Amino acid sequence: MTAQEEGSVTAGGAETAPEVIRAEHISKRFGAVQALKDVNLYVRRGEILGLIGDNGAGKSTLIKTLTGFHRPDQGRLLFNGTETALRSVVHARSLGIDTVFQDLAMINDLPVYLNLFLNRELTHRPLPVLRRSEMRRRAREALDSIGISIPSVDTEVGQLSGGQRQAIAVARSVYAESTQLLLLDEPLAAMGAKEGGQILRLLKRLKERRDIAIILIAHNYAQIVDICDRVNLLQHGEITLDRASQETSVSELLELVHAEYGVN
Ligand SMILES: Nc1ncnc2c1ncn2[C@@H]1O[C@H](COP(=O)(O)OP(=O)(O)OP(=O)(O)O)[C@@H](O)[C@H]1O
Ligand SMILES: [Mg+2]
Repeated sequence: MTAQEEGSVTAGGAETAPEVIRAEHISKRFGAVQALKDVNLYVRRGEILGLIGDNGAGKSTLIKTLTGFHRPDQGRLLFNGTETALRSVVHARSLGIDTVFQDLAMINDLPVYLNLFLNRELTHRPLPVLRRSEMRRRAREALDSIGISIPSVDTEVGQLSGGQRQAIAVARSVYAESTQLLLLDEPLAAMGAKEGGQILRLLKRLKERRDIAIILIAHNYAQIVDICDRVNLLQHGEITLDRASQETSVSELLELVHAEYGVN
């Protein structure tokens, strides 16, 4: 397939690459709270979309809807151009939609290497016997290549720091070969500057591969402007801005987010 047929990716970004996910008119209510209102959003292959907004704006709810955790009350999702009803997180993952949740889904009393292979353990086929040494080796390789230092891949995840756990959650999604859409809900929040920088570099490398679409939630707008191609602002459950990162700035984003409170 030529680049033309696939949708060409220009030097400036992924403006014409195919859309991996498109959300249309998504609404979601929790009791009295209208968490999402008629949300429309898309991300193309090779693109990183930054999702910003205040606490409670609906960012995590939106990500959880794109990953099969919440069913939308209204609206639909198109995955690779086809209308798709996501039945569960496991179903979404089987399609290639992988998520690093804000409230991490890690099993604390399992060692690091088994968490890295959660739900895709390597076995000696056809026997259901785990290939432990191979998983340990690959886990070490994966974490070394990102530069995440942990005592040992045999350490139970519950004994790690919040930042280390988050790094492992990111590594798990990134190294799942089938991932087409990676959703990251504040992956940098619990990290020190060094670990956070390593994850940002990893995301940039992933972007250069151009075969994956990424949606990143972060409260640090400098990181958003630095790493994302586009930014969407969510306010009270509604997308109020969709702009190329090159056409905005940290100060403009701060102004937009805080304007409604009369801060500026
Ligand atoms: N499972 C739930 N049950 C009831 N209400 C919920 C649930 N999940 C989210 N909400 C509500 O929906 C709104 C949006 O929450 P959400 O977690 O999506 O915000 P957010 O933008 O991710 O915020 P933050 O930046 O603090 O993570 C909030 O008012 C929240 O209280
Ligand atoms: Mg959230």
